[in-house]
Amino acid sequence: MKLYVKTFGCQMNVHDSRRIEEIFSAAGYSMTTDPRQADVALINSCTVREKAWHKAISETGRLRKLKRGRRDVIVGVVGCVAQQEGERIFDLLPGVDIVVAPDHYGKLVELVEEVRSREGALALTGFDRGLPQDFLIAGPPPSRREATAFVTIMKGCQERCAYCIVPTVRGPERHRPIEDVESEVRSLVSAGVVEVTLLGQKVNAYRRGEAGFADLLRCLDSVEGLERLRFTSPHPRHMTSDVTSSFGNLRSLCESIHLPVQSGSNRILSRMGRRYNVEDYLLVVARLREACPSIGISTDLIVGYPGETKEDFEETLALIDRVGFCGAFSFKYSPRPGTKAARLDDDVPADEKARRLDAVHDRIESLERQWRKSMVGARLEILVASAGRLPGQVSGRARNGQIVNFVPTDGKTIEDLVGHLVEVEVIAAHSHSLEGKSVIR
Ligand code: 5AD
Ligand code: SF4
Repeated sequence: MKLYVKTFGCQMNVHDSRRIEEIFSAAGYSMTTDPRQADVALINSCTVREKAWHKAISETGRLRKLKRGRRDVIVGVVGCVAQQEGERIFDLLPGVDIVVAPDHYGKLVELVEEVRSREGALALTGFDRGLPQDFLIAGPPPSRREATAFVTIMKGCQERCAYCIVPTVRGPERHRPIEDVESEVRSLVSAGVVEVTLLGQKVNAYRRGEAGFADLLRCLDSVEGLERLRFTSPHPRHMTSDVTSSFGNLRSLCESIHLPVQSGSNRILSRMGRRYNVEDYLLVVARLREACPSIGISTDLIVGYPGETKEDFEETLALIDRVGFCGAFSFKYSPRPGTKAARLDDDVPADEKARRLDAVHDRIESLERQWRKSMVGARLEILVASAGRLPGQVSGRARNGQIVNFVPTDGKTIEDLVGHLVEVEVIAAHSHSLEGKSVIR
């Protein structure tokens, strides 16, 4: 039996798809990247913006056509659209066999077998109020040498930002016991992993008993062999000083943070229900830079939120310059069903949203260029991940998140270096990456 999974959305979804593949492979399935070869074809969907929802629906529509040739193929929707739409998907897209929301992935193989053995479709949605099953399934150690891994530490979100559908589709917050996280990290490290990214919709709000997020970071930093620790995505409101001061203090914690700000206008931040203002955010940035002067700070921004005036938007541009972000994901506001903001008048015209998005892109791009240029001449530690941009080059990330391509010395090949840390001197900055040469000591 073969499984095909197509993934949309955030890193949480990418990680979930990996877990789904692990669960199916433990049941004897093999994986395929060709949907035509699949016995089970799943769309792991995202609904954070309307466009993502459309993509998931149209991709599922395409997969459904597989059944024209082979009626026994099981076509399913999992992920956030599964939770949002539930059984409605069967009306929207007749021919879909199964709809399973994220808290039920632990039962996915059984559900697929059940649907195979009977007539009719099956939907399982809703939240597991205890610890979701797949928190409890320790992933198998990576089968090939993999240097990086994701580890989920919390699920769900109760922040209720006015624009955001995540609380509706990912449910209440559930935080994993610190010992479980630690033991998963230890087993990954013993299987060759050197870099771990902690995942959670509001990762730095982690709390389990007496232990907060900074305690978890400290605990993981003491795992021998773990060279790099990252996390995504934190909320500025929960960037307490014990977390900011972990940067520069914990040897494994990388000099990079993605800290979504969303807007540079206090009026809009308040309408978004973000529960911090620009001054609070700048204080966090100052603390981070004080603790770790070389830290790269990137962000998420929404343009054209209901009621966003030209002046509000100018404040966002001013904040971008003031912080000097080294990167950003920026989005046009998109109303999502059931959110508070969906009741507000979506009053920024589409062409104005597009103009504002372009302006943000331009600013961010120029900051990215400056940031990369400032690294020329520096020595960076690169974790080699893949072949590079040009023939003969290999590629990997520095601790600050930058991609660096370089030609290895001593005739070393990608096979020799993948998963290893190499010291590289940056010799040029290009539009999306750096170029380096390895340093021989
Ligand atoms: N419209 C536009 N962007 C959104 N995001 C979340 N909800 C919306 C929405 N309704 C963006 C935010 C968030 C990122 C994951 O997606 O910037 O940080
Ligand atoms: Fe998309 Fe949010 Fe779901 Fe991630 S949690 S897949 S961003 S809707």
